[in-house]
Amino acid sequence: MTSTGSYDIQQHNVTPEAELQRLKTQATIIWKKEARTLEWFGLKDGMSVVEVGSGPGFTTEQLCTLLPNSEITTVELDPFMVQQAQTYLKDKGGDRVNFVQASITETGLPDNRFDFVFARLIFQHIPEPVAAATEIRRILKPGGKLVIVDTDADLYGLFDPPNGDFAMAIDKFSQASAALGGNFRIGRYLWRILQEAGFENLDLEAVVTHSDELGMDPFAIHPLNVTLFLRLVKMGLMTEEELASLSQSREDFLASAHPFVLLIWLMACGAKPAH
Ligand SMILES: C[S@@+](CC[C@H](N)C(=O)[O-])C[C@H]1O[C@@H](n2cnc3c(N)ncnc32)[C@H](O)[C@@H]1O
Repeated sequence: MTSTGSYDIQQHNVTPEAELQRLKTQATIIWKKEARTLEWFGLKDGMSVVEVGSGPGFTTEQLCTLLPNSEITTVELDPFMVQQAQTYLKDKGGDRVNFVQASITETGLPDNRFDFVFARLIFQHIPEPVAAATEIRRILKPGGKLVIVDTDADLYGLFDPPNGDFAMAIDKFSQASAALGGNFRIGRYLWRILQEAGFENLDLEAVVTHSDELGMDPFAIHPLNVTLFLRLVKMGLMTEEELASLSQSREDFLASAHPFVLLIWLMACGAKPAH
């Protein structure tokens, strides 16, 4: 893979299979709120939509269900992910899903062609977010919209009972992202990124998901996923002892009387100027 950012499925988790399972869970736990907010921002069935950093196709599947009459173009850098998505969506997307293997900063797509671009959990991984947003502005029709969905380490979520090891892990994860060219604190910069890339009519919303609504099972896969931190040990950012302590904290948390997880994601929207 040729990415210079902080995401590579071959390195991100203990195995690519474990990472695919985590991504699938992560694609579903907050989708209801994301879809609602996408529609609030102006996404409508029949629009021509691009999904950038589309990964293995789990979110593309959801877009296909939400938008049964839309043409959806996916842009994904990693050939492994493109292959996964093509296989996964074979009987789900039909011929209205187009697969483009390219970088978000150089999509190769035509100027002024699309109504809506969806960028979910990719901006935190790329070293040049303004260049990416500028490229997206190029391919949007005048008045077309970009929505970026992402997180911020300092707003990441809430764990009850509270746990110091979880806070330590989030901080170290941010350090790892930064070392690899990403930014796990991207949430606070989304507005400015859109502004610098020339978008207008900006908006910023937060969506939440929590275990009282969905139960703890999906949250035990994401975010309570200790295997993600093996990479940090390899990078020298976390010790074996810290990983063992984090692992024990996860077990204690899940075994506690009424554990609660709430995750917060930010959704930023901007429009390409009409003139
Ligand atoms: C965390 S995954 C998110 C996948 C999907 N959007 C989702 O929410 O499940 C990030 C994806 O962005 C892709 N990616 C990373 N850098 C990229 C780039 N420069 N251009 C296009 N895709 C990129 C990765 O290969 C990966 O599939």
